[in-house]
Amino acid sequence: MKIVVAGTGYVGLVTAVCLAEVGHTVTCVDVDKEKIELLNQGKTPIYEPGLEELMNKNKDKLTYTLESKKAYKNAEVIFIGVGTPEKKDGSANLKYVYEVAKEIAESIRNDCVIVLKSTVPIGTNKKIEKFIKTNLANKNLKVELVSNPEFLSQGTAVRDTLNAQRIVIGVKSKHAENIMKKVYDDFGQPYVITDRQSSEMIKYASNDFLALKIAYINEIANLCEIVGANIQDVSKGMGMDNRIGNKFLNAGIGYGGSCFPKDTKALNWLANFNDYEIKTIKAAIEVNENQKLKLIKKARKHYDSFEGLNVAVLGLTFKPNTDDLREAPSLVNIPILLEDGAKIKAYDPAGVKNFKKIYPKEIEYVKDPKQALKDADICFIFTEWDEIKNIEPTTFKELMKTPLVYDGRNIFDLKEMKDAEVDYFSIGR
Ligand code: UDX
Repeated sequence: MKIVVAGTGYVGLVTAVCLAEVGHTVTCVDVDKEKIELLNQGKTPIYEPGLEELMNKNKDKLTYTLESKKAYKNAEVIFIGVGTPEKKDGSANLKYVYEVAKEIAESIRNDCVIVLKSTVPIGTNKKIEKFIKTNLANKNLKVELVSNPEFLSQGTAVRDTLNAQRIVIGVKSKHAENIMKKVYDDFGQPYVITDRQSSEMIKYASNDFLALKIAYINEIANLCEIVGANIQDVSKGMGMDNRIGNKFLNAGIGYGGSCFPKDTKALNWLANFNDYEIKTIKAAIEVNENQKLKLIKKARKHYDSFEGLNVAVLGLTFKPNTDDLREAPSLVNIPILLEDGAKIKAYDPAGVKNFKKIYPKEIEYVKDPKQALKDADICFIFTEWDEIKNIEPTTFKELMKTPLVYDGRNIFDLKEMKDAEVDYFSIGR
């Protein structure tokens, strides 16, 4: 099929490349000239393992262009995968979705199915369809909006898309359902076919459930610390019950990323807007905000102030295998350390380039975790990169001035750290 994908971010580009992998001819459009140039050179503008290889493998089926209107003209299916960032009030900003919708309305020459992949508030598909119909240059054309939320995780996006556990499709007509099956049948994944509002809700409800699960395990971890239990054993014991499941039960310094923080706030906003109080999600948001400050509060019991201290920061990104910093715990903690007057040496395998855009000079960035640890008075771990997990416990003792480690990801074994004579503090153990 001839498919156009609008937006070459995590969702758009991964979708496009995976659609090409199953045999479709895909044109990717974006307004960002730099991104399109990179893509045309066979390079991905985002850090995502396996994506560049798959993109180059399917290069005959993929085109990248700034000329969106030309691309939309004869498309059979158009995917919208642009961002829906958070507004100040917590609601989703649909500005980019509307911009694409307007261009589509002005340029299509054939009947067309438009697939909304971006995470959007319940009711958006209906509204965008009405908007496109009102703005259609050729009023005789038939367009239908289809909701098809994306569940990929950054760092495993290609694998998640090619092996998705379900494809959720929200449609108004059998015609659109059949077109979507033509798009997706070769993925061989189970369908959930529903109306558009339910499909939109599945996305928010799924993401927010996972955020809730993390907030819950983090609260249990906090309680474990108080009563002398070990959260890792508690998680293991809980996770073996398959009604609970063993995923997303890792306690830590809180969730970040482009989805959970945004989608919890968006659902809370939506509930408020409809005069409903969604207490569970509200609680998750609050728990997560406090959790991000957990380590620094603990460390303040040791040092009243971080002024003049050499601080090693290991991990800047919101999770491993991504260069994304959005809502990362590092972004909450580093300003506090800097404000106190700490001298920070930071290590991250992929996040430094983006972090430098925010803190170009205030921090010294190092290429090896050992350089950060050398002569440090204290170490904070914010991300569980393999490069950090692989540090030998004895290294902290050997290199640091004071072997004092605050680990927000529960990477190290308590006994091994004790044997290595490291003062080690983690979450819920
Ligand atoms: C998430 C969803 O998993 C995905 O389905 C959706 O499409 C987008 O949002 P992503 O944000 O890429 O994906 O990462 P994910 O692996 O889910 O982790 C999100 C955050 O939760 C990270 O900060 C991670 O460190 C944290 N997390 C995850 C925990 O603190 N504990 C866990 O047990 C799992």
